[in-house]
Amino acid sequence: MSAEQEKCGTLASGRSLPVPPGARLAEVTRMNDRRDRTSTIPMPPREFQALVCGPDFIHLFHDAAQWIIAVLEHERMCGDSVNLLEVGCGCGRVARYLVGEPIGSYTGFDRHAGMIAYCRAAIPDPRFTFDHFAVASSYAAADRPLADVPIEALAFPYPAGSFDHAVVASDFTQMPPAEAAQYLAELARVVRSGGKVLLSVFFSQRHHVETSDNRLTVFYEPDRFEADLLMSPFEARASGYTYTPGEPFRPDRREARQYGARQNWYVLTRR
Ligand SMILES: C[S@@+](CC[C@H](N)C(=O)[O-])C[C@H]1O[C@@H](n2cnc3c(N)ncnc32)[C@H](O)[C@@H]1O
Repeated sequence: MSAEQEKCGTLASGRSLPVPPGARLAEVTRMNDRRDRTSTIPMPPREFQALVCGPDFIHLFHDAAQWIIAVLEHERMCGDSVNLLEVGCGCGRVARYLVGEPIGSYTGFDRHAGMIAYCRAAIPDPRFTFDHFAVASSYAAADRPLADVPIEALAFPYPAGSFDHAVVASDFTQMPPAEAAQYLAELARVVRSGGKVLLSVFFSQRHHVETSDNRLTVFYEPDRFEADLLMSPFEARASGYTYTPGEPFRPDRREARQYGARQNWYVLTRR
């Protein structure tokens, strides 16, 4: 199993997944968060689902999204008056459920033009905006879209303090530190004081990048990662929240730092 695949699906214990690919999707969708949340938004092409989940973990497309939304709700990052930014929104895995939630506005961006085109067509809700940034990302090694704008030159085209909160789910897991640092700096600019950023990252004993099956996965050395957060304009909290496929989000269940292709979820608060 590749690191990319594990990212979406492996149990924290390292056991294999309880749900075989393609099976019991409706059941898993119903279980997570103990809510019968559904979306009227058409499903994205399987090719896009595979890009955000890993080809063998498409069956967790809904489940993982609902877990993220449960975290956003628990952290009070959703609501009628909340302007939410999603970095690397992919094919709207989270947005397609947020449409049914109270939300003031949602802005998602990604460097994959095809996924942004899909989101715009599939989610015509006036509260929702999807932007394409033609930025030269290391992720192009995985899915090809090439672009000229170097990441260090990218300024998010949003005014300072224009978002209440932001979500960065499974994105730093594909961004080397220099790219992530630029995005963190831009997040610090566009998220208002007191606003939160929910983000996930993979850890390893030493920083390294893995490529397999044309996919790219980035592992951070945790002490260095946390030291960089300390220097940023954010207060950082390692939430210990753990995604277990098919299980509801349990805020009281905290796990220690995870190594390997297991997401560590941080909640940052803009000072
Ligand atoms: C694993 S997917 C996760 C997508 C989405 N956050 C979700 O949870 O469904 C990673 C996404 O990050 C996007 N991405 C990678 N590097 C990026 C960059 N530098 N700027 C914007 N998006 C980027 C990819 O195109 C891809 O859609």
